[in-house]
Amino acid sequence: MIKGLDVKANEKQFIMLKECIDSIRDTQGVLMQTLHEAQKIFGYLPIEVQKFISHELDIPLAEVFGVATFYTQFSIEPKGKHTIGVCLGTACYVKGAQQVLDKLSKELDVAVGGTTSDNLFTLEATRCLGCCGLAPVMMIDGDVYGKLEPKKIPEILSKYKA
Ligand code: FES
Repeated sequence: MIKGLDVKANEKQFIMLKECIDSIRDTQGVLMQTLHEAQKIFGYLPIEVQKFISHELDIPLAEVFGVATFYTQFSIEPKGKHTIGVCLGTACYVKGAQQVLDKLSKELDVAVGGTTSDNLFTLEATRCLGCCGLAPVMMIDGDVYGKLEPKKIPEILSKYKA
C-alpha cells in the first residue's frame, strides 16, 4: 500500500508550491500550470498535494483529481528512479512487444503501471514512440531500445541496476 505524503516533512515543498501558485494565480490555465509545477517539486501528485491545490485555487478536489489522472504526463503515484515505457503501438505489438513487456514484468516482479519494491523501476505501457522502424521498442528514461527480444532484457536492465 502507498503511504500518504508526510506534509510536515515536506513543508518546504508546500511553501515553494504556494509561492508558485501566488505568482500565476490570475493567469489562464492556472490548474494545468500548477499541476506541472507541483509534479516538478514533489515528483508526483499525491492526494495531499491535490487537496492543497484545490484549496489554494478554490477548485473542487474532484476537478483537480480529474485533470491529474487524465493526462499521462501527471502521476498520482511515486515513480521509480528509472521509468521504462514499452510501446504497445500497432507496429511494436505485431513484432512482439507484449512478450517484451511480459518479460520485463517477470524480471522486475512488477505489474504494468507499478513500481518495483526497491523504487528503482516503474514499468509502463505506452503508445507509439515514433520509431516504428525499430519495432518492438522501449524507452528507459531518455534511452531508446529497438528490435527487442525478451532474451535481451536482463542485460539491458543490468545497466540501470549498477
Ligand atoms: S508503434 Fe511502437 S514506435 Fe511506433
